[in-house]
Amino acid sequence: MLEAGETIAVIGANGAGKSTLMRSIAGVVANEAGQVLFDGEPIGALPAAKVMARGIAMVPEGRRLFPSLSVEENLLIGCYGRQVEGAWSLDAIYDLFPILKERRASPGTALSGGQQQMVAIGRALMSNPRVLLCDEISLGLAPVVIRDIYAALPRIKASGASVVVVEQDIGQALKVADRVYCMMEGRVTLEGEPSGLTREAIHAAYFGVHA
Ligand SMILES: Nc1ncnc2c1ncn2[C@@H]1O[C@H](COP(=O)(O)OP(=O)(O)O)[C@@H](O)[C@H]1O
Ligand SMILES: [Mg+2]
Repeated sequence: MLEAGETIAVIGANGAGKSTLMRSIAGVVANEAGQVLFDGEPIGALPAAKVMARGIAMVPEGRRLFPSLSVEENLLIGCYGRQVEGAWSLDAIYDLFPILKERRASPGTALSGGQQQMVAIGRALMSNPRVLLCDEISLGLAPVVIRDIYAALPRIKASGASVVVVEQDIGQALKVADRVYCMMEGRVTLEGEPSGLTREAIHAAYFGVHA
């Protein structure tokens, strides 16, 4: 359901099952093998490290930086054991988010929320993924910071990665996505291109319509 080079958004209210879906794809939650296909191959039963080695990286909800490590060490963890050819390296991440270069020796936890989110995105990019899963990267951040973070998306796409953004913010999702999936109670309730979805249909799929 995700094509190469595409950006899709998964929207849904708190508790809809978005993170569980991302964690299932990334191999953090165990599945039956055939429930997740990548390049047509079943990867549902693979552990997270093997899924990552195939080119799927996740920016987890809540960022999950290692508090005792510096910014640079947190970034390097993203490619541990797998020096991959590709657009992304420490220098490329510092070029994308220059503030991280200035703060590279600081502990991850000494950074602002937005900067921590940049580290989490950079860490995922360090594996030069073909698919980048971003779980609620705008949650809890000020609008101006969200804009800065989303400004990186075109360059991430230009590196060849397909991107999945999980958002509770419908407007943000519709702005960046080629295609949108809406979830409720663990299921997809709506799918389509942003231009083809009415506000009413999205609201019904997002909040549910109770007779
Ligand atoms: N498909 C599903 N079937 C049953 N329970 C689910 C399913 N998806 C998620 N859940 C449960 O619903 C709760 C909220 O899921 P979560 O993925 O954290 O939602 P979200 O990220 O959309 O807020 C969790 O306790 C999770 O285990
Ligand atoms: Mg979630």
